[in-house]
Amino acid sequence: MEIDLSGVLFSQFKKTKREYEKAKEQNNTILAKKKALECAKLLRLLAKYDKYNEKSYLEKAEKWEMVAKNINNILLSSSEKRTEEIPKKRSERVKEEDELDKFKSYVKNNLIQKSSVKWDDIGGLEDIKKLLMETIVISALQKPASIKPWKGILLFGPPGTGKTLLASACAGSLDATFFNVKASSVLSKYFGESSKIISALYEVARELQPSIIFIDEIDALTTKRGEDTSEASRRMLSTLLTELDGFQDKGSDNLVLTLAATNTPWDLDEAILSRFSRRIYIPLPDKEATKEIIKINTKGLELNVNLDEIAEKCVEKLYSGRDLKNLCQEAIWNMIRDVNKNLHELAKLPYNELKNKKLKVRPLTNEDFEEAFKKIKSPLTKSEIKKYEKWAEEFGG
Ligand SMILES: Nc1ncnc2c1ncn2[C@@H]1O[C@H](COP(=O)(O)OP(=O)(O)OP(=O)(O)O)[C@@H](O)[C@H]1O
Ligand SMILES: [Mg+2]
Repeated sequence: MEIDLSGVLFSQFKKTKREYEKAKEQNNTILAKKKALECAKLLRLLAKYDKYNEKSYLEKAEKWEMVAKNINNILLSSSEKRTEEIPKKRSERVKEEDELDKFKSYVKNNLIQKSSVKWDDIGGLEDIKKLLMETIVISALQKPASIKPWKGILLFGPPGTGKTLLASACAGSLDATFFNVKASSVLSKYFGESSKIISALYEVARELQPSIIFIDEIDALTTKRGEDTSEASRRMLSTLLTELDGFQDKGSDNLVLTLAATNTPWDLDEAILSRFSRRIYIPLPDKEATKEIIKINTKGLELNVNLDEIAEKCVEKLYSGRDLKNLCQEAIWNMIRDVNKNLHELAKLPYNELKNKKLKVRPLTNEDFEEAFKKIKSPLTKSEIKKYEKWAEEFGG
């Protein structure tokens, strides 16, 4: 009976402690004080029912009473240091370690991607590529302690402009471990435990460094949307912010770079923005970048086209890099169908025989592109682009 009761009290204490942490995170002094006092009270009760640990619980209760008394100072300095952890029972500790191991293997099996993307695979975005390369180089080089490279960089812009590609290239060029994390999918899959995934993620990243952590759709974690924001996403965000603050950073030699991406930067709140002091606008490609992206996506084929004219048309149609890739694929298909009549009939042949035949190709022509243009529509409007530009002007840099 006694053991049961202390179990209930302990889980109540843990819950209250979490509520205290949350109140502290939100700078809610009154609630934090109330929760600290409740923690003390629960610990005193625990001392009564768990004689074996009585002394330790009473000491902890006193500490929580001190926390309640000094709540104002604690909240003020909470960005520098965390309140002392209550020592856990051994069984409790083992359970948490087991749990962490479970999440770490989830991270290792699901969030690590092999990246073979190189800087040359990205057309345009020269300044941005340079900045990312510099950040990586500075992180890796030996340097005075006062020189601290960016640990978090935010990439924002319309869909399909190369944000994921840039993050992959960072990892590919360094041969770094690349963690590709979609905030919304971690939230929906691991709802209540998503903050544990984030802790495990950073722990694995430190183990396997150099590491690039790419957090896509970071806007899913924002608190600005008010009622949409769930408790789980708030907790996931607060763990992420703690990691970005570098509390857990053991040694500054670690290269764990966090890149975050969003299509809706205006949804992000102060808490996120303040951690990503570098915010980089990834715009739609201009004419020169468009030409480069077309060349990248038609590699190995000859271009018998008026590239300037095509590129101008693409810019006018507000094509993103993704649209350009699709455009090129359409144009290539048009060419293939043109010179390989009745291609589908070869499907009757056995695979080994097919392998000995060669696909016919010819240079791509303006006509191939003309046809392709009809199929590709940008989802963007000029006024949406203006919105990105305005935000970039105000908050970017
Ligand atoms: N600058 C670029 N150079 C070469 N290819 C590009 C470029 N931008 C986009 N692409 C092509 O478009 C595809 C999609 O790009 P990417 O996934 O990086 O876009 P994104 O900005 O992450 O989009 P979203 O916001 O929708 O996630 C890439 O796989 C690539 O083929
Ligand atoms: Mg992307």
